[in-house]
Amino acid sequence: MQRTTLVQHVRQQEKMNPGATGEFTSLMNEIMVASKIVSLEVNKAGIGEDILGLTGKINVQGEEVQKLDEFADMTFTKIIGQSETVCAITSEELEYPVIIPPDRNPGKYIFMMDPLDGSSNIDVNVGIGTIFSVYKKKTPGDKVEDEDLLQKGDQQVAAGYVIYGSSTMFVYTSGRGVHGFTLDPSLGEFFLSHPDIKIPSQGSTYSINEGNTEIWCEEQKNLINYLKDKDEATNRPYRLRYIGTLVSDFHRTLLKGGIFMYPRDKNNPNGKLRFAFEAAPLAFIVNDAGGRATTGEQNILDMVPTEIHQRVPLYIGSTEIIDMAEKHLATPSDCGKSA
Ligand code: AHG
Ligand code: MN
Ligand code: MN
Repeated sequence: MQRTTLVQHVRQQEKMNPGATGEFTSLMNEIMVASKIVSLEVNKAGIGEDILGLTGKINVQGEEVQKLDEFADMTFTKIIGQSETVCAITSEELEYPVIIPPDRNPGKYIFMMDPLDGSSNIDVNVGIGTIFSVYKKKTPGDKVEDEDLLQKGDQQVAAGYVIYGSSTMFVYTSGRGVHGFTLDPSLGEFFLSHPDIKIPSQGSTYSINEGNTEIWCEEQKNLINYLKDKDEATNRPYRLRYIGTLVSDFHRTLLKGGIFMYPRDKNNPNGKLRFAFEAAPLAFIVNDAGGRATTGEQNILDMVPTEIHQRVPLYIGSTEIIDMAEKHLATPSDCGKSA
């Protein structure tokens, strides 16, 4: 049986772009190499390697940095940084962008990443991942401007994620469908296993941290109560599935349908998840798979971020369910603002 490797697939896709130079294929190849290195480390974690646990540092998000967070960030930054395909890298773990200097032969792309998603699950052998976005430099000349780093979600050239789980999967889109590859560890090669993924238009699972119920806004509480009410005609009550690793909760939603939510709440008016490193790349992917992603008020892909680490509320999944959710969220309460 003919098995398509990730690099072959990317090359075939790039050839469909008139004037393609092969630079995008090179970049994707480097992303793949970095993900294989991180996958190896994740799978060795706990066997003698001192890669579990905390570094003792706090990152720009105010979160404790795990050794694997730092390892993944350094691995992707180093490999992508020397790939001669990007002029800048932004990372959830780095307060400031990495600008590639002229003597390192910068390329035309900008790479944005959550190097290790699901850090709270690292030490308990639950799925964790990497999420990435690729944009093109917009402004003329060599200098990387804020405008290059703060682009509208729909300006992404490509987006993808890696799940270091029971198997290592690499899922990406370059705007021509969403395709999934599974790592064959005996060969160290990613092979096409999920061609042209489409999210079911309906589903019956909802994914949210119900531990935050007390601080949710009224409209959010009403939405969850609606999903839990019994009504066979509309597939209710929904079933709750929550892993606590965004890429894993999203991957299940992508394959089975449903909705993932990380809403704003009384303490976090913009929610928890980051626009550039989590919401925008997954929105680009779900959109190409026939789904939708919104803040509750605005499509994620229509948003222009105002700063690199901007957080946004995220509702992502099957289009019909997102439409229904938006109806429930249409009259946002002040949600503790007046408190
Ligand atoms: P990260 O590990 O990159 O900081 O991301 C963690 C995120 C995301 O993976 C997950 O959906 C969410 O945090 C879980 O948050 P709670 O623990 O508050 O539910
Ligand atoms: Mn994350
Ligand atoms: Mn992270």
